[in-house]
Amino acid sequence: MEIKLLGEKVGDILAITEDINHIRDIDSLLDRVLLEARKFTNADAGSIYLVKNNYLSFDYVQNDTLMKADQSGNHFLYSKFKIKIDENSIAGYVAKTKLPLVINDVYKLGNEVPYVFNQSFDKQSNYRTIAILTIPLITSRDKIIGVMQIINPKKKSEIITFNNTDKQLVTYFASQAAVAIERAIMTRDTILRMIRMAEMRDPKETGAHVNRVGAYAIEIYNSWAVKKKHTIDEIKKKKDILRIAAMLHDVGKIGISDLILRKNGKLTEGEFNEMKMHTIYGMELFSEKSSESDEIAGEIALNHHEKWDGTGYPGILNTNSDIYSFGRGKKGEEIPIYARIVALADVYDALFSKRSYKDSWSEASVLEYIKSERNKQFDPEVVDAFFSIYKVITAIREKYI
Ligand code: C2E
Ligand code: SIN
Ligand code: SIN
Ligand code: FE
Ligand code: FE
Repeated sequence: MEIKLLGEKVGDILAITEDINHIRDIDSLLDRVLLEARKFTNADAGSIYLVKNNYLSFDYVQNDTLMKADQSGNHFLYSKFKIKIDENSIAGYVAKTKLPLVINDVYKLGNEVPYVFNQSFDKQSNYRTIAILTIPLITSRDKIIGVMQIINPKKKSEIITFNNTDKQLVTYFASQAAVAIERAIMTRDTILRMIRMAEMRDPKETGAHVNRVGAYAIEIYNSWAVKKKHTIDEIKKKKDILRIAAMLHDVGKIGISDLILRKNGKLTEGEFNEMKMHTIYGMELFSEKSSESDEIAGEIALNHHEKWDGTGYPGILNTNSDIYSFGRGKKGEEIPIYARIVALADVYDALFSKRSYKDSWSEASVLEYIKSERNKQFDPEVVDAFFSIYKVITAIREKYI
């Protein structure tokens, strides 16, 4: 990589740009952009901040050294701090000036610079940030949408400093990446608007609930698929699709009457039977199956209330007639894996939340319930995957409130 010629690297950037324009999910896209930017300079770590309400919000982090030390998953992905767009921080300064900035050692900043280095991440994680290359993410209309930081470039595992070529290459790449990022943000906002429409009908399905279920689902899937030795490429591609599909698990509730959806207190058996139809209505919304995303979203909507032991709903549908009738519950691996994962993510979140018909549960009782339903309501391997990344799950719960 290091001995590649500049022209070759520019060629790489064009190929990667073509590639990243196919990624839909914003987090998958940030993951890929950061990975590629780090590759140009063989950098140990990096992060991306996106502009939200005139602040920079810390949106994505990668760190090879920390990830090697802690195999349980990257909970720093879900840290939630924000910084002002002003001269007081490195990232804020770059967002304000819209110019790339190279720093050789952040612990030896001169008196002439207005910014200070925020040591809180290093302190929290026992990491030593030395060299930082900070690049503004600017769209073609000269709008600043965020900042990317590439940290600690290495040569044969020695940490070195960034040179001018690094700065130029990464800046060029960032200008391409910014366009893709802006597009992915628009896609996400459109989907969130659709979810908000459903939410206006069902006060339980808040944006935060939906965000949490999406994030839990991809992290459980990641852990499950790594154990199954699926390839990294396959996992990344599926995570791209899964987050959004999981967020849409209950969109079928838009077909349920207000009287039932907004009922205060317990549902009668008849009302609950009608409520169960939300799985089928949801599946029908994606029945075109025009893409893999639609297919997986449909599978999740239909099957997220099936149970591993076969006692869930709607079961195997009779598709011979125009009117669906519920059949025997699907069992074990008859239930698609994405639905088995969302089933756990959804119930974990529902138990924590207060509903008109129940109080919120304590963390201890939620975890006890999940353990006791391992092999009954839930796929045991999915439960194991969930517990093996519980630190990440907690970080997600604290981020989306
Ligand atoms: P939800 O409130 O988001 O709950 C999702 C799933 O979490 C439930 O699916 C169930 O598996 C689990 N869950 C929620 N609360 C409890 C609980 O207190 N104990 C246990 N063991 N599990 C719990 P389920 O039962 O198929 O319900 C689907 C949806 O139907 C619920 O979504 C909610 O919107 C509605 N619903 C269910 N029962 C009632 C009720 O008695 N009153 C009202 N108003 N709505 C209900
Ligand atoms: C990621 O989500 O891409 C980071 C991998 C992990 O879950 O630890
Ligand atoms: C900053 O830009 O000051 C924050 C840098 C970091 O914590 O990585
Ligand atoms: Fe549901
Ligand atoms: Fe839900």
